[in-house]
Amino acid sequence: MKVLVIGSGGREHALIWKIQQSPKVSHTYCAPGNAGIAEIAETVNLSASDIEGLARFASKNEVDLTIVGPEVPLTMGIVDLFEKSGLKIFGPSKKAAEMEGSKSFSKEIMKKYGIPTAAYESFTSKEEALTYIDRVGAPIVIKADGLAAGKGVVVAMTVEEAKAAVHSIMGEKVFGSAGNSVVIEEFMEGEEASILAFSDGKNVAMLPSAQDHKPIFDDDYGPNTGGMGAYSPAPVITKEMEKEILETIIIPTIKGMASEGRAYKGILYTGLMITDKRPKVVEFNARFGDPECQPLMMRMESDIIPVMEASTDGTLDKVDIKWKEGASVCVVMASKGYPGSYKKGQVISGLDTLKKEENVFVFHAGTKESGEDVVTNGGRVLGVTATGENVKNAITRAYGAVHKINWDGAYFRKDIGKKALERNQ
Ligand code: AMP
Ligand code: GLY
Repeated sequence: MKVLVIGSGGREHALIWKIQQSPKVSHTYCAPGNAGIAEIAETVNLSASDIEGLARFASKNEVDLTIVGPEVPLTMGIVDLFEKSGLKIFGPSKKAAEMEGSKSFSKEIMKKYGIPTAAYESFTSKEEALTYIDRVGAPIVIKADGLAAGKGVVVAMTVEEAKAAVHSIMGEKVFGSAGNSVVIEEFMEGEEASILAFSDGKNVAMLPSAQDHKPIFDDDYGPNTGGMGAYSPAPVITKEMEKEILETIIIPTIKGMASEGRAYKGILYTGLMITDKRPKVVEFNARFGDPECQPLMMRMESDIIPVMEASTDGTLDKVDIKWKEGASVCVVMASKGYPGSYKKGQVISGLDTLKKEENVFVFHAGTKESGEDVVTNGGRVLGVTATGENVKNAITRAYGAVHKINWDGAYFRKDIGKKALERNQ
């Protein structure tokens, strides 16, 4: 079968790496892709948000299954458009993807179906939001309602900071119409982790736990990024807690969405805060996490294609997914200056030597080909991912590979996986 993957990050490279291990797949396209993806798939010069162009491409090239990486095409309704054209596609419909597209919508669902999360209020009036902050005080969390490329959340430690966030989101509209309303929620203290689950609208299959590292600097200092590294499993989530997450969060969410007439198919990503040993939802995303997808794909034993087909066909109860024992770790190598401004076009060295290495794979994110070279082309550049018998081993292997790669201005966190090591001791 012919598969089309939409997106251009490390997540999409990892999905393609995994998809191509399926004996069912004969050809892979990726739109738009990156330099690493171009080495293993046919890249197509279409943007991830050109949903009409992508549907035309899939029809013309008789693509059997399309897999959507990022959230923007999902919230634009790419799944509805493809299905209307008789094309098979993995992901939630526009109405279901609102779980990520609108924070106030996802909070309403959580409230209605009793899903554990931070207490909150939504506001469309700036003045009312400011009055509320005065009343409840800090610490408090301010969230732009709509998509803001992961930047629309301010964890405010003071009332002044919280009010400044409301002014910039609702007054200055720094995230455009995503700031027409805000969610203001209770600050939760704890350790974060991610649980992803496949869903076919009724049945779910949970993936192993993972943990992202959002802040740019070691020990979680500095501004948030798209994610500087991830590992799986995350020992902060115990086996019993996994069961609790499935029963109190994932199943009620999928059931709730079905009864709202918004059957949720694809991947449901749940960002969790583990507070006093209880899991609470921080956010839902309508797609695989990046970088969580990279270590998860390296741990997946089963063929992913039948699982994705079962998710789209409503037969997920018929599949059994196997995962590799041990652990995997992804260290993100970024351009110096990210998440602020950074240089592009730096020549990356050391990639070829790693191609022979076992248990290590370098997933590309912001890279492009330039003549014979691979050069940097974004903030997050590479996701160096390794498996091991345990997290310690996987960390050693991943950093061993990171040290073989270089470019002028390469930056990475030195402590990916440290929280897991501390818990395992
Ligand atoms: P979100 O986009 O909703 O995941 O928020 C981005 C980040 O802000 C999360 O990964 C958390 O680190 C932090 N955050 C969001 N909501 C809360 C909350 N209620 N309490 C504490 N931290 C939060
Ligand atoms: N790693 C967080 C996300 O993909 O949103």
